[in-house]
Formats: sequence, structure tokens, C-alpha cells
Amino acid sequence: MDALYIHIPFCDKKCFYCDFWTFINMGHEIDRYTDYIIKESRLYPVYYYDTVYFGGGTPGLIGAGNFARILSELKIRDNAEVTAEINPLDYSIKDFQEYIKAGINRLSIGIQSFQDHVLKTAGRNHNAAQALETYRKAREAGFENITIDLMFGIPGQTLEDVYSDIRIIKEINPDHISIYSLIWEEGTLFWKQREKGLIEETDTDLEAVMYETIIEELTKAGYIHYEISNFAKPGKKARHNTKYWENKEFIGLGVNSSSYCSDRRYKNLKNLYKYYKMIDSGELPVDISSIEEIDETEKEKMKIILGLRLLDTGTEYFTDSRVEKLIENGLLEKTGDRIILTKKGIMLANEVFVEFI
Ligand SMILES: C[S@@+](CC[C@H](N)C(=O)[O-])C[C@H]1O[C@@H](n2cnc3c(N)ncnc32)[C@H](O)[C@@H]1O
Ligand code: SF4
Repeated sequence: MDALYIHIPFCDKKCFYCDFWTFINMGHEIDRYTDYIIKESRLYPVYYYDTVYFGGGTPGLIGAGNFARILSELKIRDNAEVTAEINPLDYSIKDFQEYIKAGINRLSIGIQSFQDHVLKTAGRNHNAAQALETYRKAREAGFENITIDLMFGIPGQTLEDVYSDIRIIKEINPDHISIYSLIWEEGTLFWKQREKGLIEETDTDLEAVMYETIIEELTKAGYIHYEISNFAKPGKKARHNTKYWENKEFIGLGVNSSSYCSDRRYKNLKNLYKYYKMIDSGELPVDISSIEEIDETEKEKMKIILGLRLLDTGTEYFTDSRVEKLIENGLLEKTGDRIILTKKGIMLANEVFVEFI
């Protein structure tokens, strides 16, 4: 076990597209929540972590002091990758220097778009100038590994907006980019606005052109398109997330966190106070109904579906009628003893994955 995910479920404001498990206006819980993350970590055996990932929610809200409290409690290997997600807003260079002192060496900035009208439609609580300023300060503070999150397919976002985002990426030169097409999640404000006819889904053909443009332009700019939604400069692939795609085991701390540990997948409790209570009673705060034993068949299936997301290495070739059909249809190709997605397969990846579910 060498991978640790820590879920920080607090946000200042709910973005209109997001259905992640987060709490708004709960800032007063942050220090106590940090105490419980530490207590929960003590319920596991001592592991020497090679990657630690603070995801959210908005991990940046807990502040450098709480990052330091958690990280000083863990055994972390030399040269580990320690990532924290932040949202752009009001950080000083000194704040980022404190992050680095606390042990964070990779920053993931949730930017989503560099166009103010897109950020406004998406319900973000920052503008493009603030995002750029946050990025600049993080660099100035000394972060040498910065990834940014972007999205496409947001209502009203045009192909020109995507080109403008790419121009800015080329200027600021982040080490890594995660770029997701909008997923319409039931229960979000976007979903409700669409039901009322206030916003519309982006045309599928336009969304495909956006994705093709992103791939082409970022590849030209020296990024390796190594996973469906992820691009990295050489040597800057996300080490933690790559473990998920390689179907390696990991521990997740915090409310509603997932873990894959000792051949079991399970989720932590969603309710904050039940989560605290269970930890107080000395038990892992796991939602019993979520526990799933992962047998060899399931492992093989996950290895294929997750492995194919990795565009350079894919998964090991195996004789199977579905594989042959996908090769025939030009969605998969065989290279040596591996099978990988073709260009067409990347565009239609979900159609490939459902074959193996
Ligand atoms: C859960 S968020 C956490 C990061 C941070 N709170 C933020 O908003 O930037 C991780 C990333 O998932 C992506 N994301 C969230 N909801 C999405 C959706 N409905 N469709 C596509 N991407 C989404 C966004 O790019 C976001 O940065
Ligand atoms: S996208 Fe990020 S900031 Fe917005 S609600 Fe979701 S987790 Fe919070």
C-alpha cells in the first residue's frame, strides 16, 4: 500500500455542474475534520506512502497549518508526490510557500475556463484574472509541478473559447492538464436549468471538435496525451492518478472516500457526524453496504477498462471476440502484446468500455 487519498468535503459555493460530496458554509468544522482525518489514519497500519492526494471539495480551504498537521502524522517516502487541489481565490505567495513547507509539492488548480462568461455560467466563484494570478503566485512561491483542471462542453462555450484557453495554456505552460467534457449530473443546478429550457447541451459534434482540437493543439505544444482526459509534459504524468488507472490499491480517508484495500472496494460514511462517531468508537468509518469483494474476474475486468484509459500502454492483449470486433471496427489496435485505443477509439472510448462491463 503506497497511495493515500484524503477527501476534503468543504466548498465556499456549489458550482452549477458539480455533484461531488461537499458541504457549503461548514468552515467551522475544518479543524475538527482535520483531527478526524488524523485519527482515521491511525486506524490503518503504518504504510510508507509514495503518493498522497488531497482532493475535494476544496482542500485549499483547510490551510497550510492543517496540511502540515496531517502530513507530519504520515510516513511519506522521499521523492513522494504530494498533491493538493485548490480553487483560485485570494492566495498570497506566502500561503503557497507555507504549503511547500508543509510538504505539498504538486498543486492542482481548478480553473475550468479562462473565459469569464463560461465561469459565470458554470457558477464558479472566481474570474479568469484571479485564476491567472493564483497560478502566477504558485509558480513564484516555487511550485515546480502544477496541474490545472479545465472543462469543455459548458453551455455557451464556443470553439473560439476553447482556442483562447489553449492560447493561455501555451503562455503559462502548466506541467499537467486535466480536461473534462461536462457530465450532466442529475440534481445539479445545470440539470434543473436544462429541464426548464434555460440552458442547452452543447451539440455532440461541436463537443467532439472541441476535444479533437484540444488533443491536436496540446500535443503540438509538447504535452503527452497519456490518458483520455489528461495531458502531461515529459516526466510530469500524475503519479497518484496513474495508480488508479493501473488498478493498484489505495486508501481513502475522509467522508465518502473510496478505498481499494486488501482485495476489497469500499466507501466511507457520507454523514459527517456518523463518520466522527465511528472513528471515536475505534472503527474504520466504512459504509458496510458499500463493501465489494474483488475477485480475480472483477480484477481482470477493472484492469482492462482502467488500463485502456492509459493511451500509451493500454492493456495486455487477450484473445476474445469483443477485442477482435473492436480491432476490426478500428477502435482498438494491437501493438506487440498490448491493445490500445486508436484515435477513433479515444473519441468513442465509452463505447469501447461498455463492451467489457
Ligand atoms: C471535484 S473537483 C475538485 C476540484 C476543485 N474543487 C475545483 O472545483 O476546481 C475536480 C474536477 O472535476 C471536474 N468536474 C467536476 N464536476 C464535473 C462535471 N459534472 N463534469 C465534468 N467535470 C467535472 C472539474 O474540472 C473539477 O476541477
Ligand atoms: S467543482 Fe469544485 S469547487 Fe465547485 S462545488 Fe464541485 S468540488 Fe466544490
